[in-house]
Amino acid sequence: MSAHSEVVPSDLLEHIHATKGFMPEDEGELLHNVARRQLPQGPFLEVGTYCGKSALYLGGAAREVGGTVFTVDHHRGSEENQAGWEHHDTDVVDPEFGLMDTLPFFRKAIARAGLEDQVIALIGRSTTVSRWWRTPWQGCSSTAGTARSRPKRISPAGRRGSPLAASW
Ligand SMILES: C[S@@+](CC[C@H](N)C(=O)[O-])C[C@H]1O[C@@H](n2cnc3c(N)ncnc32)[C@H](O)[C@@H]1O
Repeated sequence: MSAHSEVVPSDLLEHIHATKGFMPEDEGELLHNVARRQLPQGPFLEVGTYCGKSALYLGGAAREVGGTVFTVDHHRGSEENQAGWEHHDTDVVDPEFGLMDTLPFFRKAIARAGLEDQVIALIGRSTTVSRWWRTPWQGCSSTAGTARSRPKRISPAGRRGSPLAASW
């Protein structure tokens, strides 16, 4: 357990541990801390939801201090999540379309944690969402980019000085 983990409530940690995903605990705790500080001033925008692991850290902060987290993903996976790549998980493939669909996993994770009022999914490409997004965010984190596909444009409307945490 790291030095920051006391700030993440234990009930939330149980849900986080039970959720598929890639957010390391120390980065998640940092995200949780930053979100707790920023959310009272306005929404937090996440790019790269996957099954909701990082969104749980953010949503937990929103539950504590008030506020709303928007999380953007097309839910079809990044390049490294596709079949044949290192981070592929056959559990998240929709058999009807033969494509990844992490949205149902996200929904269950957020509902189980009781965070449906705090964490709002935006389902689509970041490039499409960013064309229409005009709300200044108070914090933004992105885990959507990969080594080969660089992070996409996120939002033209972030307040100057708002924290941007990016991991790719
Ligand atoms: C590494 S995973 C995110 C991990 C997640 N934050 C967690 O805590 O486990 C990257 C996600 O970004 C999404 N993604 C990649 N490029 C995207 C884009 N241009 N727009 C929206 N989502 C994107 C993928 O579908 C995938 O679910």
